[in-house]
Amino acid sequence: MARDKVKKPRFGWALTGSGHYFKECLAVMQRLPDLDVFVSKAAAEVIRMYKQDLALPDGTRIFKDTTASAVPVGGFYYGVYHTLVVAPATSNTVAKAVAGISDNLATNVFAQAGKCRVPAIVFACDTAPEMDTEAPKGMVKVYPRRIDLENTERLRSFDDTTVVESLGDLEAAVEARLRWLKSSCS
Ligand SMILES: Cc1cc2nc3c(=O)[nH]c(=O)nc-3n(C[C@H](O)[C@H](O)[C@H](O)COP(=O)(O)O)c2cc1C
Repeated sequence: MARDKVKKPRFGWALTGSGHYFKECLAVMQRLPDLDVFVSKAAAEVIRMYKQDLALPDGTRIFKDTTASAVPVGGFYYGVYHTLVVAPATSNTVAKAVAGISDNLATNVFAQAGKCRVPAIVFACDTAPEMDTEAPKGMVKVYPRRIDLENTERLRSFDDTTVVESLGDLEAAVEARLRWLKSSCS
């Protein structure tokens, strides 16, 4: 399959095991056409803890993290994806991403998107020294460490990568990609 043969490029969305805005990210995904979801092992557990199900539009494909070599990433090489969204992104995934580590499905799709020059939007969890976040039993306070905040900052310097800090910014970045897609297809 050659890059230019893909008629309808898709959104790739990596879900990681973060409770921070997890439900809200699912709501954004539910509005997207032509979507493939890459679910980290931790995300698969967190979905159950927050009593969520992946009720996504017809045609959405869901890839779980079941292979050591992250087989589903192959689509990035063939132009299947116009955009990768990593949301919400745990401190673990962000730390691995900035270190160039790709040892699971989420970190692999981020690395392969970068190598294929597919723009990525990352909704990093750790953006301020003190934050309110939703745990399965309600809101709690968390205090991201200096290393977590530094990693989020480092990610901003990556090529083709937009780091967003709020749900509103995530929605705006996704909308911008939808507008770009519409204009590039017309
Ligand atoms: C209920 C629950 C909520 C969590 N929320 C967060 C979070 O908001 N941010 C974070 O960095 N890690 C959070 N974690 C921890 C991650 O799931 C854990 O670090 C995991 O190893 C991340 O794996 P992944 O980055 O491959 O998805 C949470 C864990 C649980 C059980």
